[in-house]
Amino acid sequence: MKALTLRDIRQSKNKNLQMLTCYDYQTAQMLNETDLDMILVGDSLGNVMLGYETTVEVTLEDMIVFGSAVRRGAPDKFLILDMPFATYSTLASGVKNASTLFQKTRAQALKLEGAYPYQLQLIERLTQNGIPVMGHIGLTPQSVHQLGGYYVHGKNEDSAARLIKEAQALEAAGAFAVVLEMVEKEVAQKITKAISIPTIGIGAGSGTDGQVLVINDLLKLGPNRPPKFCTPVADLFEMKKELIQTYLNDQRK
Ligand code: KIV
Repeated sequence: MKALTLRDIRQSKNKNLQMLTCYDYQTAQMLNETDLDMILVGDSLGNVMLGYETTVEVTLEDMIVFGSAVRRGAPDKFLILDMPFATYSTLASGVKNASTLFQKTRAQALKLEGAYPYQLQLIERLTQNGIPVMGHIGLTPQSVHQLGGYYVHGKNEDSAARLIKEAQALEAAGAFAVVLEMVEKEVAQKITKAISIPTIGIGAGSGTDGQVLVINDLLKLGPNRPPKFCTPVADLFEMKKELIQTYLNDQRK
């Protein structure tokens, strides 16, 4: 299957783009054989692969290890990697760390959370340096302590207006797409109409130009209930547990 290019993605307004997270080599090999549009090595790997409470603990080295494994497993997919917490707090550190991550993992793009002026400046600089950037607004988990929890954004007029402005600013800075995480669905729809680059929603309703899910939620790889907006297609945690238990019972007969 031919990999999408940045130009294909930019031109995918209203095309129902599908993105899933992935963190390991063999899952990447499997996804490489599907017609999935984009793979995201999200810093959610901190939660689902490393057992951290938040994504704040994820490091650049973690992203390099997991990102490279996924690249090796899925050479044909458009691959996006998250810039982890505190690696882009200044323009200089952002340029340096983004270049390292991009070069060492052979990703096609990076994603960073937020749309403050210094982040917009960084996106402008990275895109000028040849590093495509996906934006991410709404719930930005790296700021969970500052936000005071995980909740839906855009619930009042001020917050909705701010999100629309942020999305427009991200487009103007050169982002090729924007993730809208836990954004009120009407607001996500308004944002989608207000910008010409694709919006990719997660917990933001069906009015975006695409969707992203954490693959561990979609396949229910863990024991916990996935977030409300994700309907798992299987319960692989229970299935795998039962298979292993059956194997153990057989061994001990
Ligand atoms: O880290 C991640 O998996 C993400 C998605 C939820 C968009 O940022």
